[in-house]
Amino acid sequence: MKHKAETVRYSQLVMPQDANVVGTLFGGQMISWMDIAVSKAAHRILKNSPADAAVTRAIDATEFKEPVYVGEWVNFEAIVTNLGRSSIKVNIKAFAEGRHDERRLACVSEFTMVAVKQHDDGTYTKCLHGQILDS
Ligand SMILES: CC(C)(COP(=O)(O)OP(=O)(O)OC[C@H]1O[C@@H](n2cnc3c(N)ncnc32)[C@H](O)[C@@H]1OP(=O)(O)O)[C@@H](O)C(=O)NCCC(=O)NCCS
Repeated sequence: MKHKAETVRYSQLVMPQDANVVGTLFGGQMISWMDIAVSKAAHRILKNSPADAAVTRAIDATEFKEPVYVGEWVNFEAIVTNLGRSSIKVNIKAFAEGRHDERRLACVSEFTMVAVKQHDDGTYTKCLHGQILDS
């Protein structure tokens, strides 16, 4: 099935429990939210495919560019950039949104997800997703 490149959006409010020791958003929490946003993009791609889900294989080129503060929103924009046989490459950007300022590019990363098929015994293996990016 052919897919047009689309921006998949996901947002989170930064709560006090998401902060690190200097009071800004903890990097591990940022990556976790990115993983969810990327999973949403993969989920869209895998509709009507033989795969049951996608798992995270690699996280590359992650860069924390700006701190994000408690009380701000983080708006994620994920775009599928390449479809391999089982892999799905996703570019993800996180924009911080405060009450008064312009949106700030806070973090960027490149995720590689792999389509998987679940088996009756609870294990899973990679699966050819058969999806194509319409360029
Ligand atoms: C994901 C998994 C099923 C892949 O199975 P595998 O037999 O290792 O598969 P491969 O090594 O052939 O890699 C699968 C695809 O990922 C790509 N890939 C592998 N390593 C990669 C890396 N470091 N960076 C980018 N892409 C990579 C391969 O090129 C291949 O792409 P293609 O099928 O489109 O050609 C397996 O590695 C796994 O279960 N990993 C753990 C996943 C996990 O626990 N994630 C965290 C929770 S979601």
